[in-house]
Amino acid sequence: MSNSPTPTEALALAPLRGVSGKTLVLKLGGSVGREDTLPEDVTRLQASGARVVVVHGGGPLITAWLDRTGKTTRFVNGLRYTDEETLDVVRMVLAGLVNGEVVNRIQAAGGRAVGLSGADDGMLRATVKDPELGLVGEISSVNRKPIDLLLDAGYVVVIAPVAVAASAQFLNINADTVAGEVARALGADQLIFLTDVPGISDGDRVLRELTPNQADALMTSGVVGGGMVPKVQACLRALAKGRMTQIVDGREAHAVLNAVQNEVSAGTRFVLA
Ligand SMILES: Nc1ncnc2c1ncn2[C@@H]1O[C@H](COP(=O)(O)OP(=O)(O)OP(=O)(O)O)[C@@H](O)[C@H]1O
Ligand SMILES: [Mg+2]
Repeated sequence: MSNSPTPTEALALAPLRGVSGKTLVLKLGGSVGREDTLPEDVTRLQASGARVVVVHGGGPLITAWLDRTGKTTRFVNGLRYTDEETLDVVRMVLAGLVNGEVVNRIQAAGGRAVGLSGADDGMLRATVKDPELGLVGEISSVNRKPIDLLLDAGYVVVIAPVAVAASAQFLNINADTVAGEVARALGADQLIFLTDVPGISDGDRVLRELTPNQADALMTSGVVGGGMVPKVQACLRALAKGRMTQIVDGREAHAVLNAVQNEVSAGTRFVLA
């Protein structure tokens, strides 16, 4: 009995063309389903020679654990107000539950992944963003060394968005912002946000392309609001010549591969005017 793949299976597993050596940063939204195809897609990209970094959120699970502990959650401009107890829950959920789960699912799909949080080698340093938000950080620097070390060794790097201040104080930090800053620090070729909507909508339809001016106007008018704001801001900051930056529906099967290969329903793309 032979274990060799059938011709169809071999085709399905053939290395993807044009991705070898490319650096891809994926932001996985907390509302995106647990049964999705991300682990498979990431594994296939890794096997094809891509350097893949996954930054995950965890909003819904953080809210669920805060509810269990009887804490209420308040949002200011799409960002969570964070006191010390909230921060403990945020760290437990992000660096514990979610990070481990993403790593484990990539491993189960046949990939090789290692999880990091911002404290590892001081990877994500931040200062307090705005006292009104409590223990929320604004990124001051990204140390790319631990990421490079793991990517060079062939691992997928899975980042929990938790930052540290110089005082060793942990700070809550928006996952979208982390994804954008990591993409900038690495000079990534592509930054893809996987979320729970088909893209940025103007109320009636999904906008396929946005220039920085158009995006600013949508934020000013409030058409883009809530959790979409930090995503758009991160895309605009990460947008640079040659870097593809987009927001796609992470609930769709093979959303990652479709976005990387620039195929159908690839959400909203940011373009320089
Ligand atoms: N113009 C818009 N078009 C599309 N979605 C929008 C728009 N304005 C606001 N949103 C909201 O942004 C949400 C996506 O951001 P959200 O923070 O909820 O998810 P996420 O960032 O993918 O997950 P997490 O915060 O857990 O990491 C959408 O579900 C939608 O409700
Ligand atoms: Mg969000």
